[in-house]
Amino acid sequence: MNGKIISVHSFRGGTGKSNISANLSYMLAQSGKKVCTVDTDIQSPGIHVLFQLENTSSGATLNDFLWENCSIDKVALDVSVRLGLPEKSLFFIPCSMNMGDITRILKQGYDIATLAKGLNDIRKLLNVDYLIIDTHPGLDEETLLSISISDILLIVLRPDNQDFQGTSVTVEISKRLEVPNTFLVMNRALGGPSEMDDMKKKMRDAFDCEAIAILPDCRELAQLGSRALLSQTAPASDWVSGIRNIKNRISG
Ligand SMILES: Nc1ncnc2c1ncn2[C@@H]1O[C@H](COP(=O)(O)OP(=O)(O)OP(=O)(O)O)[C@@H](O)[C@H]1O
Ligand SMILES: [Mg+2]
Repeated sequence: MNGKIISVHSFRGGTGKSNISANLSYMLAQSGKKVCTVDTDIQSPGIHVLFQLENTSSGATLNDFLWENCSIDKVALDVSVRLGLPEKSLFFIPCSMNMGDITRILKQGYDIATLAKGLNDIRKLLNVDYLIIDTHPGLDEETLLSISISDILLIVLRPDNQDFQGTSVTVEISKRLEVPNTFLVMNRALGGPSEMDDMKKKMRDAFDCEAIAILPDCRELAQLGSRALLSQTAPASDWVSGIRNIKNRISG
């Protein structure tokens, strides 16, 4: 059976997608699943920082695959051992951080069908349980593609009215694209457990979509500044416990 594709998306930027994708990937791998995380934010990549890779430009990247310079299996890095996980449990496909490569993609674009084929091929080649896609915010072509091929879509939002409107649009699109499972993830929520429960109910009513987790605003995560994974440095924190609930729900 093919592994599941999980896309982590938000309408607006800076909602916490990359931190959620990287920590969820790590925790799934830690629990014995085989995972490949893909950075499809070609314009502004970032998740490599969370996996503590300083430079993605020394090896082949997703850009090289999209320009047909190499096959998709050549761009998947095994990051397991550097993160203290068993070998071949967590793979990562980075984007190039080279300025010339980013401007070339922005100017010339790329063939979206090539990306779709690459994602499908890599999940089979690596025989992963989960392919986790960290996306660019907003609704551009590659984001619509990643939403349309998802088994599970996590739409991240903050308690901010600007996020709410865009989230309604994304939920609507996921319904039209018939994504089998779409969940909201509220990040940076303020207040105690009862307020969070209340927020869950309000979100279901407002978006007609289940909030799989309400993740608190987290000082430790902000202080960490994406230098590492909070699930490694503070596994007992409330924020990590929220990610654990998502992991259990998805893999259960
Ligand atoms: N729950 C939280 N509490 C405090 N800080 C947070 C929380 N979630 C994310 N952050 C901080 O917000 C910033 C943005 O997080 P992140 O890069 O994961 O978002 P993103 O959605 O991937 O952004 P982009 O749209 O630019 O790719 C980071 O500095 C991160 O440390
Ligand atoms: Mg990001």
